[in-house]
Formats: sequence, C-alpha cells, structure tokens
Amino acid sequence: MSRIHLVVEAVGAQLPELAERARRGGPRVASPDDFLDFAARAEDAGVDALFYADFLGKPRAQFAARPLIPFEPLTALSAIAARTSSIGLIATASTTFSEPYTLARQIASLDNLSGGRAGWNIVTSIQGAGNYGQDLAAKDERYARAAEVTDAVLALWASWDPAYRRPRGGFVDTDAIADVHFSGAHVTLDGWLDVPSDRQGRPVLFQAGSSAAGLTFAARYADAVFGINPSRSGAIRTRTRLRELAAAQGRDPGAVKYLPGVRLFVDDELDTVESPGLRDAVGALLGVPLGGLDLDAPLPDRILAARGRVDTQSAPITGTVEGLWDLAAEPGTTLRELLGVYRNGSGFLSLAGSARSIADTLLGWVDDGAADGFVLGAGGSVDEVYRQVIPLLRAAGRYRDHYAGSTLRDHLEVP
Ligand SMILES: Cc1cc2nc3c(=O)[nH]c(=O)nc-3n(C[C@H](O)[C@H](O)[C@H](O)COP(=O)(O)O)c2cc1C
Repeated sequence: MSRIHLVVEAVGAQLPELAERARRGGPRVASPDDFLDFAARAEDAGVDALFYADFLGKPRAQFAARPLIPFEPLTALSAIAARTSSIGLIATASTTFSEPYTLARQIASLDNLSGGRAGWNIVTSIQGAGNYGQDLAAKDERYARAAEVTDAVLALWASWDPAYRRPRGGFVDTDAIADVHFSGAHVTLDGWLDVPSDRQGRPVLFQAGSSAAGLTFAARYADAVFGINPSRSGAIRTRTRLRELAAAQGRDPGAVKYLPGVRLFVDDELDTVESPGLRDAVGALLGVPLGGLDLDAPLPDRILAARGRVDTQSAPITGTVEGLWDLAAEPGTTLRELLGVYRNGSGFLSLAGSARSIADTLLGWVDDGAADGFVLGAGGSVDEVYRQVIPLLRAAGRYRDHYAGSTLRDHLEVP
C-alpha cells in the first residue's frame, strides 16, 4: 500500500484560524511570526511540505477581506527555512514574469539555505501582467515560454559538475562549472550560475495547470502536480492522463505524484445554504445559466449536455471548470451539491465529518488511483487535521512516523 503525502498551503490554510482570532477581537492582520508559527506546527505534525502559493496582481477586494498580507514566497520561505529543520518549502514563482537566471539562482539558494528542502511551483500566472509592463499573453504562449524558462533553469542547475567539490585549496573548482548558452523564441541566456543546486539532486518541481497544455507540461517536467478535483472519477481520469503523458515522454509514471487540493472540516458540516450570487457565479464558470433549477433534484440532461459546447481549455483555471463539470456528470449530483463544492472549497474536494470518515475517504482516493496525496487548503482547522486525521493515517500504516530523510525529495519519495 502506497504512502499518502500531505502538503499544506501556507497562506490559505491558516485563513480560518486567523479570521476566527480576528472575530474574537485579536489582531486583524497576521504578523510574520504567525507564518513562522504556522510552519512550525506543520513540521511538528510531519507534513511533507509547506506550499506557498502566489497570485501576482490580486484584486484589491481580496485584501480588504483577508486577515493576512501574503508575503513574497521566496523571501518568506527563507525566513521559515531558518526556523524549521525538516519540512519541505515550495515557492511559487512565475515563468511569465521572471528570467530563468533569477529563478535558478533564487531557488538554488533557498535549497542550499534550507539543506535541500526547496521546491518550485512553476506557474504561468493568470493575472498581474500590468506590474511588469505587459499584457497577459494567451495561455498557449505562456506555456511555450514556461517550457523554455524551465529548460534554461534545468540547464543552469545541471551546469555544476559534482567535481566542483573536489579539494582545490579550499575554493570551488570553477572548471567544474559549465557555461550555459540558451537561445529560444522567448528566452536568451549566456552565462554561468554561481550557486550549486545539488543538495537533493535538484530542487523539486511542482506544477498546477490542468488544461491539456498544462498536463503536457507537467508530464514533461513536474515531480508533483497539484490538482482541482471535487469528484473521484475526475481525479482518476486526470491522474491516469498525467501518467500516460509522462510515460509517453519516456518517464516512469510513478515518478510524478498527483496531489489534488482538499478542504477538510473535521467534526464539522459543509455549508449547504445557497448564498446570494452563488448560482450566477457557478453558472458563469460553467458557461450555462443555472437559474430556475430545483436545488435538490439531480441536474437535468440539458445542463449536462452544455459541457460539450463550452470551451474549458481557455478558462483562467481550467481545473476549476473541469472539476465542477466532472462532479455535475456524476449520476444524481444535485445543484445544491455543485454549489456547495464551490462555496466550501472554490471547486476543490471538501470533506466534512469525523476524523475517521475523512481519513477513510483520503485513503480511498489513494487506493482507487485518484491521488498520491493531497494539498490541505482553507478548510476548517488544520490543527484538527494534524491532531486527529494524521494519527489515523499513521495507525493505518500509510503515513510515516517521522521525517525519514532530510530533503523534500525524500519526503515526497520522488526519484
Ligand atoms: C492547487 C492549485 C494551486 C495553484 N497555485 C497557483 C499559484 O500559487 N499562483 C498562480 O499564479 N497560479 C496558481 N495556480 C494556477 C495554475 O498554475 C495555472 O496557471 C492555472 O491552473 C491555469 O492553467 P491550466 O488552464 O493549465 O489549468 C494554481 C492552480 C491549482 C490547481
């Protein structure tokens, strides 16, 4: 039985506790110490990694409603690295708005400073172009640049021959560092990298796109992929596709972990009340109006038939739309269930109930080939997940007792 992997989302997963603290009259905006404390608790629980998401150019309204200021991931994770010793540290960084030399250097530096715990969540960004004097390029164009940026980063990381460590009067043997020349349609680079990246082979690569272009990219480069799947059948399909694509690239399909996002509400219930605007928001995502439908009746065929007419590939986040459609397509799904998935987890799998029922569902997904693990996002209390759910996974022999190795690659069991 394969082990289950857990990653916790550094920003989203602490929102519920911070919002609750603010409601009780505590600080309205989290301090840097809150981030450090959150990371320390995740490490105490033995979570594989902290995933620091980053959306450049967020709408102002999101700031007004949030009890924290999300810091820039690489700098925040450098501080967290100094206060932790085992947990993996996954920084989101954009290929659309960064040059490969900068990325290779920053991520390799984090990897060294953390003792081999760095990961890079490769994103093409869905907003924020104005900050860089750009218009946001079309998705295909962004993925084409992402491939070149990633190739160039990998070339920089591969440019240090392990021989650089051989003793040479105590200095680095610079003859063991190759020049890197890269010339593509999007990236040009001539230089050499001044930081090694071999603490764990190389930093671990993550990716979160689930469009056809996104999965193809992931199958080529990623060690682990984040997904949006509220339905088990949809997750099985996505993970199977990812593994097929990886095999077609000559990779071992087992070398790519699939980690859908999940919102866990231990000893709680999902909110199934239809809030104002919710029906319109979900209808807009799906591209079909949901007005006039009975909340508790199975979705009618005319709604399901609309799927084939909607272009989900060019949606800002294909996974959100495809995930909702996958759920809608499961026999008997009601509008209330569909709206609830969006309301409780923005389209991610949301589970509420006893720790036992949640642990069983998570293990069931892994056993059915729907996931290799999960990313814990803004559900209820992550501390309750640590206190109640992880021990059950351990008791089932499916979660390690302590960090067996020292690197992120060790924790995730990726080669
Ligand atoms: C779980 C998850 C986490 C993501 N985190 C980020 C993020 O931190 N920053 C970002 O710009 N995009 C993030 N994305 C968006 C993806 O990187 C990607 O841009 C988006 O899904 C569009 O690509 P696609 O159409 O191929 O899915 C995330 C997506 C998922 C599913």
